[in-house]
Amino acid sequence: MLQNDKIKLMNTAQHDVEIHDQFTRQAEPFLERHGRGKDALLGLMAECAAPRPTDTLLDVACGPGIISCFFAPLAARVTGLDMVPAMLEQARRLQAEKQLPNIEWKLGQSTELPFADETFDCVVTRFSFHHYMDPQAALREMRRVCESGGTVLVADVAPRREVQDRFNHWEILRDPSHTCALTLAEMKALGEGAGLELRRQENFSFVMELEDLLAGSFPKPGDGDRIRALFAEDIAAGRDSLGVAARREEGVIRLTYPVAVLAWRKP
Ligand SMILES: C[S@@+](CC[C@H](N)C(=O)[O-])C[C@H]1O[C@@H](n2cnc3c(N)ncnc32)[C@H](O)[C@@H]1O
Repeated sequence: MLQNDKIKLMNTAQHDVEIHDQFTRQAEPFLERHGRGKDALLGLMAECAAPRPTDTLLDVACGPGIISCFFAPLAARVTGLDMVPAMLEQARRLQAEKQLPNIEWKLGQSTELPFADETFDCVVTRFSFHHYMDPQAALREMRRVCESGGTVLVADVAPRREVQDRFNHWEILRDPSHTCALTLAEMKALGEGAGLELRRQENFSFVMELEDLLAGSFPKPGDGDRIRALFAEDIAAGRDSLGVAARREEGVIRLTYPVAVLAWRKP
């Protein structure tokens, strides 16, 4: 084995531990914060993926099953896959609450999907690519398990190039399992690299309160306050170097995440 491959393997193993740690702890708060209210991004994803009632759909890195449960009434069968058992536990809970019989859950890795080639008509994922060590490999896997003529859809935060490094810096402080949020241009290049044809591209603004965001994640000791200081500085200076248009409104700090939704066709 080459030395570089060894280092990459070690890093991947360490990163998997980080993902397990963060998302085991985040599983319940994530569902409570994002799974109960209205979420217009889900409607936009459904519009872009446009599943038919006879379609089979895979939700990669499904977390607590929010996307899977949203798509289940629109498709014949949905499979949600995640590498963290605690997330799948929450997903089963949401499925039971919503009484959706046509979903199954699978424990597994995005870069080694445990499915045969061309198993699904539609393969979607949300808020996962910025956690990957190798996003190109993950997109290739999504393409592999998608039928020819089917749809591969990725929705993720996509900072502007000018603020990308600062954005990734504070996001890694907030959630050490964050690797790198890609720009829209980088996400489009991944699609080209995977041999996919871009069919539709949309932007979405995802608004959050900073304290709510911090309460649902698990920064290392002291990093929560470092993040608060970064935002206070940015707002005081009247600039947007952190990439989320931070502002004070009604006594709280609000952020707007720029989200890109890309839907490709597998030729
Ligand atoms: C921010 S959550 C998003 C959950 C869900 N997609 C949503 O948008 O509601 C990210 C999820 O990606 C999962 N994840 C990260 N890396 C993964 C990998 N390599 N394979 C499978 N799941 C992964 C985490 O366990 C977590 O549940």
